[in-house]
Amino acid sequence: MATIALTRQISPALAECQLTYMDRDAIDVARAERQHAAYEDALRAMGAEVVTAPFDPTCPDCVFVEDTALVLDEIAVIGAMRRASRAPETKLLSHLLGTQRELASIQAPGTLEGGDVFLVGRTIFVGRSTRTNDHGIEQLRAIAEPHGYEVIAVDVPGCLHLTTGASRLTEEIVLLHPEWVDADAFIGVETLAIDPAEPWGANTLRLNDQTLMGDCFPRTRDIIESRGVTTRTVDISELMKAEAGLTCMSLLFDGDANALRQAIAGIQITADRTSHRRASASA
Ligand code: GLY
Repeated sequence: MATIALTRQISPALAECQLTYMDRDAIDVARAERQHAAYEDALRAMGAEVVTAPFDPTCPDCVFVEDTALVLDEIAVIGAMRRASRAPETKLLSHLLGTQRELASIQAPGTLEGGDVFLVGRTIFVGRSTRTNDHGIEQLRAIAEPHGYEVIAVDVPGCLHLTTGASRLTEEIVLLHPEWVDADAFIGVETLAIDPAEPWGANTLRLNDQTLMGDCFPRTRDIIESRGVTTRTVDISELMKAEAGLTCMSLLFDGDANALRQAIAGIQITADRTSHRRASASA
């Protein structure tokens, strides 16, 4: 079993991504791809085995793979995307995660995006946001509690997802931006506020006792390091124009990387055959 970081290539349509709390700014997709490659390198340097799924040209947001699912040790929960343009993303992830875990899925009228969820120990904090509703939260509770998890809802009044405004810094500390998420909801853990001049700085990625963060949050980095946390930085400025955070570009779990790669190879063979048949038919 390896620590897998499952990522997905950037869609050429990234510039048409969903935006909720941000104005649209031109996105240089080639630059975003270089930053995504550096992000994957950082995950490898932190000890993850990176497995990358192919992009879908019809899904502008498909690189944000975290939003499609929550992978627990015991079960993978396939989310229900709030935006129609993102709904097809879960099909591939169901197929891939089905090689790793038993699956459960959130059903309408429930919506739940993985970007609204993070764990601290056996506690699952889940954001009540523009993307995740109470039906989705109750379904997650019904799936997770029999496995020994406690599910705590957190209001997210000021940003896209819970993980936009909060993240697990260590097993004891949640880093957050108190203007964007309800700090009082984090029962049983210490909360640490980011520097208010860096509102996007609360999204950090914890892996093997290291913390990955964006390189444009030096004041928050000082706050984190003053607590003895080792940090590493990466530039995702182009991806941030798509309302991205670090965590939303990977799903981290212990699993079988070879089984995932075989499933991905099978998809690519099927896609190649389909495009070959289409080309033959139109010749
Ligand atoms: N662009 C990420 C999202 O809005 O889902």
